[in-house]
Amino acid sequence: MRSLLEVENLTKIYNQDKRNQVIAIEDVDFRVSEREIVGLLGPNGAGKTTTIKCISGLIRQDAGKVRVNGYDVEENQEKVQENIGTVLEGNRNIYWRLTPVENMEFFLELGGKLAGSGREKIGELIRRFDLEDKKNTPVRELSRGMKQKVALGSALIKDPKLLVLDEPTLGLDVEASKELQRTLTSIVEKEKRAVLLSSHQMDVVQNISERAVILDQGKVVVDKEVAELLDDFKVQGYLLKFEKQLKETTAEKLQNDFEVLELSNGEVPSAKIAFQQPEGIYQLMDFLKGHGVTISSIETEGQNLEEVFLKTIKRKEQRGVKEK
Ligand SMILES: Nc1ncnc2c1ncn2[C@@H]1O[C@H](COP(=O)(O)OP(=O)(O)OP(=O)(O)O)[C@@H](O)[C@H]1O
Ligand SMILES: [Mg+2]
Repeated sequence: MRSLLEVENLTKIYNQDKRNQVIAIEDVDFRVSEREIVGLLGPNGAGKTTTIKCISGLIRQDAGKVRVNGYDVEENQEKVQENIGTVLEGNRNIYWRLTPVENMEFFLELGGKLAGSGREKIGELIRRFDLEDKKNTPVRELSRGMKQKVALGSALIKDPKLLVLDEPTLGLDVEASKELQRTLTSIVEKEKRAVLLSSHQMDVVQNISERAVILDQGKVVVDKEVAELLDDFKVQGYLLKFEKQLKETTAEKLQNDFEVLELSNGEVPSAKIAFQQPEGIYQLMDFLKGHGVTISSIETEGQNLEEVFLKTIKRKEQRGVKEK
């Protein structure tokens, strides 16, 4: 399928001064094809915003290439702007002194399409994002969620082939977040478009993305189908409390033989243990029995995708594995 976004070996180094360089991203490489929604994930400081700023031409990379719908970001900025709609962190892509309608008009004019259908489009987006009451109020007087909606509307107004969104659901209430997810899904399904979105909200990514690109410390550590990733994350976790402190040798062996996420061997001795297969719990029971450990309570641990996701990143890093 045709790539609407090609990111090739992208590297960006921020120079605070000669001695103080930050390699924000290094050799970042991935594609987004038409009809695809790709989630760009990673912990704070991983390089998501930097990647998005390079893609939308806001900052210049130090090495590598970005092509949007085939146009090179460095060589053909004008064509790139016709083909991309961007929502930046904190809605910095819109003008806070202008009203929602004025913002959308401004972005339409940039695309040269204000006449006729353009006006209708503005009305439609104002309605879709529930902004009718505020359509003539300066954006700076709107709530954070409303600002986010204006930013989205302004990115969508040109009907761009590629939508790039940095934390688009941040500050939206549940209903608005759902509505946005529906909007994005319908955009890529009906038309030959694509979306790249960064998010810390794993449920959003899980709901709408087909593929996830995970950055960690400026590098791509995972580029995988979300369904496959979720399978990897399918971990059953238990929190066990013990009657007495574990002997040091037992605690050590426990950590060697099982996937111990947390161990506290103080006043209330406990361990959080994960299993790739649910049957693992039987082996643990045998182990504890064999070492004379009495359990005072056992609970299953609620699934926290974000937590498991961050742990997976750490494990990968320790092993130095790069998955493709
Ligand atoms: N203007 C800048 N000058 C210097 N360093 C910067 C600048 N912007 C970002 N960085 C550094 O680059 C790295 C990547 O930052 P970036 O903002 O891209 O991360 P992020 O993945 O978007 O994080 P978050 O989840 O917190 O939004 C960090 O180490 C950050 O400190
Ligand atoms: Mg960011």
